[in-house]
Amino acid sequence: MISSTASSFSRIASKRIIGSSSNRAAAAAFAPTTFTSSTSSSSNLFFSSATSIEADLKNGVDTATLLAERIKYFKVYRWDPEIENQKPYLSTYPVDLNDCGPMVLDALIKIKNEQDPGLTFRRSCREGICGSCAMNIQGSNTLACLAYIDDDTSKATKIYPLPHMYVLKDLVPDMGNFYEQYRSIEPWLQAEGSERAEPGADGNTKLQGEFLQTKQDRAKLDGMYECILCACCSTSCPSYWWNADKYLGPAVLMQAYRWIEDSRDTATTARLENLNDAFKLYRCHTIMNCTKVCPKHLNPGKAIAQIKKRMTALH
Ligand code: SF4
Ligand code: SF4
Ligand code: FES
Repeated sequence: MISSTASSFSRIASKRIIGSSSNRAAAAAFAPTTFTSSTSSSSNLFFSSATSIEADLKNGVDTATLLAERIKYFKVYRWDPEIENQKPYLSTYPVDLNDCGPMVLDALIKIKNEQDPGLTFRRSCREGICGSCAMNIQGSNTLACLAYIDDDTSKATKIYPLPHMYVLKDLVPDMGNFYEQYRSIEPWLQAEGSERAEPGADGNTKLQGEFLQTKQDRAKLDGMYECILCACCSTSCPSYWWNADKYLGPAVLMQAYRWIEDSRDTATTARLENLNDAFKLYRCHTIMNCTKVCPKHLNPGKAIAQIKKRMTALH
């Protein structure tokens, strides 16, 4: 897959830079230095040490062509579990910013469509709603569809999967543990004992009709219900990096608090007791990376502090 990727990339570079001998030199300069790697020495892979744009320019690439096309390089983390003994490496892709949308997700889609169909990443809504395109871009966790491409073409943009997660392939992290933790806080309305709860025909409680809230109670959920569970915050939290199996992390804790604060929910005490654990909650050391990084501008650090306050009142 990689070798065909490399040759298809060469074709694209050759096709894009056509005509003069200096342009052919440009195509030659692009093609063989595309991939950088710490991987095994498979002979059909095109790997070399990182090549800077400045070096390309000095080595005879047609400067006018590069500037006219506003070529931006993207260095993208790659790993394919189906290739035996392959170690992770970075692939470098040139993208003409004149012919690309403004967001990093636009560039990734363009690379996948035109250069490397094997490049794997999640995306769906492309407008910051589904949370699936979360990744680490230039050292910060964010949504690729909300991250503008840095148009400084002298620097490559580096893209990695969310940090400290198991990787399924390329930019796709394994979200299994994160979703299990979300499941553990029972993220649904529990209103047993309320006047609208009646036993259904099967004996289970059946919730009837609307559950009304005052405007003031509803407003308490603002800043929490907007969470799209992208996991940017949890995977930027050092406590979560080291204890992801036991610490619930900021995203899930904020969702827990969203239900604790919901005036319609009657399971508040049980929810708090479920969180009263040295690891589940108290691994948070208020470093606030989570709040700094949230692409929806939410404040999970504050929600965690509120849970701790409620916990004190409980005992
Ligand atoms: S709080 Fe923000 S960063 Fe964390 S999961 Fe929700 S939307 Fe994503
Ligand atoms: S405030 Fe708590 S949850 Fe947020 S990054 Fe710091 S330790 Fe993690
Ligand atoms: S594609 Fe849905 S949040 Fe980015």
